[in-house]
Amino acid sequence: MNFPLAQTDAAGRLRHLVTLDGLPRALLESLLDRAAVFAAQPVKNDALRGLTVANLFGEPSTRTRASFELAALRQGADVVNFEITLSSRAKGETLLDTVYTLLAMRVDVFVIRDAEAGVQDMVARAVDGEAAVVSAGEAHLSHPTQGLLDALTVRQAKGDIGRARVAIVGDIARSRVARSAHRALATLGCAELRIVAPRAMMPAAGAFEGARRFESMEDGIAGADVVMMLRIQHERAGSGPVDLAAYHRDFGLTAARLALAAPDAIVMHPGPMNRGVEIDSEVADGPQSLIRRQVANGVAVRMAVLEALAASRRKP
Ligand code: NCD
Repeated sequence: MNFPLAQTDAAGRLRHLVTLDGLPRALLESLLDRAAVFAAQPVKNDALRGLTVANLFGEPSTRTRASFELAALRQGADVVNFEITLSSRAKGETLLDTVYTLLAMRVDVFVIRDAEAGVQDMVARAVDGEAAVVSAGEAHLSHPTQGLLDALTVRQAKGDIGRARVAIVGDIARSRVARSAHRALATLGCAELRIVAPRAMMPAAGAFEGARRFESMEDGIAGADVVMMLRIQHERAGSGPVDLAAYHRDFGLTAARLALAAPDAIVMHPGPMNRGVEIDSEVADGPQSLIRRQVANGVAVRMAVLEALAASRRKP
């Protein structure tokens, strides 16, 4: 077994972003600080002028793909988009043939989403030194830029992540969003992390280290400062068919349930939302919802990540 690929160089600069696991707090904070600047003043810059970004998406995506594309274009990059399955199960060209073809076209940054675990790491090893890899979602395991944008949203709204009690609610077992939010918030010293799910959607014991577990929505969101709702990941094998009406009854975020959280609690959701299942429209569109702010922050965070990768590619 190889060691995980180093994501930072000797100077601590970001070379790839495959996972938030193991990234130092100072690096996460500097990315959030930079993203906060982009979020406050959405101006274009030239940080990626002369570079080419390839978006390789093997799973459906609207906001993540569009925000990576806009983040690259707003910094002067050329962008090429592919809908492609890079997993080793895919027919035809092998994964590495595809990657080397793109590398020959002088792609500098590969943004990759795939349903199979390990694809981003494999590509990063293949292109290391010649191009950078950013994960845009890896199986159920990791979605690092989503974790960063969620942390930025909490920080903006609450000021201090160290005082925030965050409840993540829904299909935790199959959620890469939950894993990366947990990793980002834990690294940044979040006061309390709770995971709230029916038993069939709870991750295995030992996962989500340090998080408190709740099988009751009412108990899980009581007094929370942040309520982060998740979609049921029907496309990933696991808990079998779900009775959506029963799910809404027990785990849907209604206005009445939200009243159990802190009075100034914020509501988050990575999208896509299923209104009337995990969240009611009244709440999703209500005054406590920061769901659209998350989308805006997604572009800002991806600008910061791409800028950091571009900087480390310029030889010192
Ligand atoms: C999520 C994803 O694809 O992991 N969406 C996103 O990136 N905004 C969550 C989901 O699909 O439910």
